[in-house]
Amino acid sequence: MNADGRTRLDQTPEWTALSAHRDDLDGTSLRELFAADPGRGGGYTLTVGDLYVDYSKHLVTDDTLRLLRALAAATGVFELRDAMFRGERINTTEDRAVLHTALRAPRDAVVEVDGENVVPAVHAVLDRMAAFADRVRSGAWTGHTGRRIRNVVNIGIGGSDLGPAMAYEALRAYTARELTFRFVSNVDGADLHEATRDLDPAETLFVVASKTFTTIETITNATSARAWLLEGLGGDEKAVARHFVALSTNEEKVTGFGIDPENMFAFWDWVGGRYSFDSAIGLSLMIAVGPDRFRELLDGFHLVDEHFRTAPAESNVPLLLGLLGIWYGNFHDAQSHAVLPYSHYLSRFTAYLQQLDMESNGKSVQRDGRAVQWQTGPVVWGTPGTNGQHAYYQLIHQGTKLIPADFIGFAEPVAGLSGELKAQHDLLMANFFAQTQALAFGKTPDEVRAEGVSEDLVPHKTFKGGHPTTTVLARELTPSVLGQLIALYEHKVFVQGAVWNIDSFDQWGVELGKVLAKRVEPALTEGAEVPGLDTSSTALVAKYRELRDR
Ligand code: F6P
Repeated sequence: MNADGRTRLDQTPEWTALSAHRDDLDGTSLRELFAADPGRGGGYTLTVGDLYVDYSKHLVTDDTLRLLRALAAATGVFELRDAMFRGERINTTEDRAVLHTALRAPRDAVVEVDGENVVPAVHAVLDRMAAFADRVRSGAWTGHTGRRIRNVVNIGIGGSDLGPAMAYEALRAYTARELTFRFVSNVDGADLHEATRDLDPAETLFVVASKTFTTIETITNATSARAWLLEGLGGDEKAVARHFVALSTNEEKVTGFGIDPENMFAFWDWVGGRYSFDSAIGLSLMIAVGPDRFRELLDGFHLVDEHFRTAPAESNVPLLLGLLGIWYGNFHDAQSHAVLPYSHYLSRFTAYLQQLDMESNGKSVQRDGRAVQWQTGPVVWGTPGTNGQHAYYQLIHQGTKLIPADFIGFAEPVAGLSGELKAQHDLLMANFFAQTQALAFGKTPDEVRAEGVSEDLVPHKTFKGGHPTTTVLARELTPSVLGQLIALYEHKVFVQGAVWNIDSFDQWGVELGKVLAKRVEPALTEGAEVPGLDTSSTALVAKYRELRDR
């Protein structure tokens, strides 16, 4: 029993029933499941918005899905979901509401936090962003010397970088190609150097994105960018107002940094960093794709929000994906989850999901502070196909680990491809379908022998199959579809955190490293002694100084 009166998760009847069911199913192959049910392919599918989701290649039966839904019901997933949408403070360790869903609500929606409807304020900021984005895009917003802005450099890290950077790549075909966009996050000076070395300061706008406006990497990079700008423009401090805007919840710190509050786009503490890209944090993206496309993106998010909020459990896609992850992580010892988009434009998609998923559900205490006795968030990884096929797919196919994977593909290449390049899309997608087929059904020793393979090579060329995959198929990677995909994963992560009884919306685990970096820095810069520094770190710092000062 937990302190909040809940029975320990792994001792609930629903959990125990799933364990027993797993044992019953043990040894059942996907080949057998497909043979037993001719309607499985095409039948085990759901649709949400423009996304067609095939989950037939999972090691599940109708019973598995029923038992998983029972687990969700018993762990209060639906109550927590409703509390989130109602604006309750479900992020208990930070005492905050969790309302990224309000960021994409339509203008006439009502979402209350502490009795106040936040939707008008959300749209007021979106309107200001749109007016600013239009001015930059049209050339009406000029730099200090009167030249138009041609370069936009977003400076931020984590949730203040990954969303806009990922979406900029994803929606490149929709961007204003005459503008250059760069995304700087790393405190390694090389990042800012490479991003600015070929830019003209007179034509460059810096978008400083930081919810707290205290993040050391961002403030350091923004300070260096300011120096670079002033050096390039003859040192006139007035230039900052034309070349720096801030996206933040912290007006005091923004002003303290020297950015005019007129040039600040606000958001709120009920928007978590990794859930913030629909807020003012999306400004760089909005400049790139324009306000209308940005709205399409938000509408895509909203569509899936509504689906998650209202669809019955049997057809609720984020619920299904969350529960499938629990099936493998908690009942089959899977440690990781691969996300494999077959779209070059989604090259940063998995990196974005890493923060979303791993910062949210990389927890080992329950909401009441007790240790969890079960696995929580998986390691999320992956890169676009077909590149991964020639790198790490070998391990997924024939290694010793169970790695559930999501395959995301599109029927149409992004608008703009024609001729031979467009024709290549069928080849890309032939690989997409071939991989999930090979992973699911493998190749038996007899099938290998039938190809005339010598007996000594048969074990090497046998694929045991049974590797579970979800296939997500959409017609085209539009702004709306991108929003739908991200919201799908946001709510999947939510479902899992709810079942595991963890707070998916705090991130205390990143604090310790930050604090220690501040403590150790004087040892590097001044050779100062850091009280309590362990002998390994002390010796490493000494070696670093020796190498540096050689
Ligand atoms: O990595 C920790 C974190 O707090 C993330 O949650 C957040 O997205 C990132 O740092 C950046 O924070 P900020 O937007 O306040 O600069």
